[in-house]
Amino acid sequence: MRADFQSWVASHQARFEDVLRGLLPRAEVAPQRLHEAMRYAVLDGGKRVRPLLAFAAGELVGAEVARVDIVAAAVELIHAYSLVHDDMPCMDDDVLRRGKPTCHVQYDDATALLVGDSLQALAFQLLAEHRLNGHARFPHPNPLPQAGEGANESLREFHANDDAARQLEMIKLLAVASGSRGMAGGQAIDLASVGKALTLPELEFMHIHKTGALIRAAIMLGAHCGSGLGAMQMNKLDHFGKLIGLAFQVVDDVLDCEADTATLGKTAGKDADNDKPTYVSLLGIQGARDMAQRLHREALETLSEFGDAAQRLRELADFIVLRKF
Ligand code: IPE
Ligand code: IPE
Ligand code: MG
Ligand code: MG
Ligand code: MG
Repeated sequence: MRADFQSWVASHQARFEDVLRGLLPRAEVAPQRLHEAMRYAVLDGGKRVRPLLAFAAGELVGAEVARVDIVAAAVELIHAYSLVHDDMPCMDDDVLRRGKPTCHVQYDDATALLVGDSLQALAFQLLAEHRLNGHARFPHPNPLPQAGEGANESLREFHANDDAARQLEMIKLLAVASGSRGMAGGQAIDLASVGKALTLPELEFMHIHKTGALIRAAIMLGAHCGSGLGAMQMNKLDHFGKLIGLAFQVVDDVLDCEADTATLGKTAGKDADNDKPTYVSLLGIQGARDMAQRLHREALETLSEFGDAAQRLRELADFIVLRKF
């Protein structure tokens, strides 16, 4: 990693942690245990790859960082919810996540279920309320609490000029990426595939949905925070997201076999234990690595016309494929 990229990553990660801290409900607010568990699942952990992709796409279109913060937070909350549910006994049955006991182990199954439900709802609340200064056009006599209660006012102001049609488009984009035709659908296929040998196209379909959809959404939402890209360029960017989202899960499959639990912060070797079809089970370690390299190359090619403005996206693509955790 180049030093300049490393400091870009570190400064965004640190600043974004504060953003998330401000947007999540405080642990002292009732119901305290649920709020504490939501904060446990989201804060102090994770690489924040999806937010970083949103920031990089935002840079490409000259978007205000504070504006991208909201969409990045919405995607990260959906991702955190997907991890909480993914780890539950009815899914992958994992006890370690981001170097800590998984949410259902630290709390209990019912709380973990509700953490997922609440994080998902909060993600859409954020996308919906950060417009018109964060206030309803016709003030409600008994207003619902704003996300985070006491969240940073300046964040809201950046959304004052959002055009309503684009805002609806962004909400729909995240909904599709999260639901049965996106992440949740991919997870359903993953669970239905235990013990089966999938074909390459079937495996690709599963990975593009369970992991690729949210990564793609992060990039597109970041790009929607600014302007200046035409439909063709937005399509190129979307294609980049599709390729790098797939590469991300191919590398996750490789790391599950190759890395150790301490480095990953989650239990290594889980895919083989759970008899999951993966790129490694289908192509072997070297075949999966080659696949990730090929996707990486193709992803970089799709960015060729964007010039220097896409440099952070290129560096993130490199990080996604070369990472060790
Ligand atoms: C893990 O995602 C789950 C997958 C979709 C492969 P990450 O590797 O991004 O997990 P964190 O957010 O860094 O913990
Ligand atoms: C999870 O894939 C994808 C999600 C939607 C959470 P994995 O089951 O491979 O993720 P890890 O390896 O547990 O992080
Ligand atoms: Mg899983
Ligand atoms: Mg899992
Ligand atoms: Mg995995």
